Amino acid sequence: MTARAAQLHTGSHDLPVSSALARFMTDRWAATPPPTDSRVPGFEQLAGRRARLAARFPGERLLIPAGELTVRSNDCDHRFRPHSAYAWLTGLTGEDQPGHVLVLEPDGEAVLYLRPRSARDGDGAFYRDRRYGEFWVGRRPDLAEAARTTGLRCADLDALPHLPAGRNAAHDAELAAVLSELRLIKDDWEVARLQEAVDHTVTGFEDVVRSLPDALRHPRGERWIEGVFNLRARAEGNGTGYETIAAAGAHACVLHWIRNDGPLDPDQLLLLDAGVETDALYTADITRTLPLSGRFSPVQRRVYDLVLAAQNAGIAALKPGACFRDFHQACMSVLAEGLADWGVLRVPVEEALSAGSGLYRRYTLCSSGHMLGLDVHDCARARAEQYLDGVLEEGQVLTVEPGLYLQPDDETLPRELRGIGVRIEDDLVITADGARLMSSALPRTADAVEEWMDGLLSGPARD
Ligand code: GLY
Ligand code: MN
Ligand code: MN
Repeated sequence: MTARAAQLHTGSHDLPVSSALARFMTDRWAATPPPTDSRVPGFEQLAGRRARLAARFPGERLLIPAGELTVRSNDCDHRFRPHSAYAWLTGLTGEDQPGHVLVLEPDGEAVLYLRPRSARDGDGAFYRDRRYGEFWVGRRPDLAEAARTTGLRCADLDALPHLPAGRNAAHDAELAAVLSELRLIKDDWEVARLQEAVDHTVTGFEDVVRSLPDALRHPRGERWIEGVFNLRARAEGNGTGYETIAAAGAHACVLHWIRNDGPLDPDQLLLLDAGVETDALYTADITRTLPLSGRFSPVQRRVYDLVLAAQNAGIAALKPGACFRDFHQACMSVLAEGLADWGVLRVPVEEALSAGSGLYRRYTLCSSGHMLGLDVHDCARARAEQYLDGVLEEGQVLTVEPGLYLQPDDETLPRELRGIGVRIEDDLVITADGARLMSSALPRTADAVEEWMDGLLSGPARD
């Protein structure tokens, strides 16, 4: 009996299996082909990525785990999504990967340790194991099938504990940092996947605008919007790359408002921050702040225009060789000057912007962007000298997302500004001489937003 057979995942309410049934279940099953025998997506890039990683740790054994299932409640698990570094090195992105581990041997050979499809004449895992069994969660490849699709030597996960120790990306800080740093520059295939993610996200935003009449009628309109966007994400890709933020009115002043349990009022703005994650697991991260009536009020437009000016300044600062922090500083200078013009900032702009002060940050709260890729906050383990204190390079993809969050209870603000939150977030790829706006299909100026909403709300329903 294998180590795994001793640990069939059965539930307290599963009926016992008689020996007669166990015998009957071993018999008369036809051969079934795997759902696909083609190479994993992005196959051509994978060997080069693994070689670049191995070259950073010569003579060492590296373990890159896909991760484990996590319990949602009792015996139900969350849907599985492999770790991004594992997906980046193997091309394997599916729900059938929990527990699997990629090993780079000291000589650089890559071996995939996986839980192969259980045999029909074996321990009955295929119909008895509710966590991994084929009749519970779907067919998984056997070792030969996995070797064909990945081009890797494949071995049974049961053999993994017998390997000599190595660095494990799950708890080795240096390996995790290098994996993040290697992913900072996207190749053309990755940029194409990110463009797909952005394009589906644009469609999701259009769906949301079309759904506004229904959402406005529902007592939890924010949830309605979340549901509409998430339907598109799940239909076109793997799902959302992070929890959708659908924040109406003052909820927009909560940076990660994902409770989404509020109603919508036509006098409010709706901040929608959402991204589709493709089947290859690349995600978009886009925010639009929309007037729920279809028209910005004068004060809403004033805040919106200042955030847009900040975003324009941030985008203009993107180019190879610029410091990563430059675009943030460009956004913040515009916001601080605007706040000073409104009489909100009561100290000189230079002082507010200085490192020792930063008083304007009461109204901006967070930084103005981050790397984007397989993770929404991509490459997060990269060392500061490569990322936060580094310079931009062609092929990096990032967000520019300034915002103003004018809290409803902030007595430093004139009453008409209180409770307004605006963020405008777009995705850009650094090019040879600047940056390309990947999310240009969505309007950014207040006039263009109104016109776009008009067109969607008066146009024919889409299939
Ligand atoms: N949606 C998370 C972020 O914008 O960073
Ligand atoms: Mn973001
Ligand atoms: Mn976002």
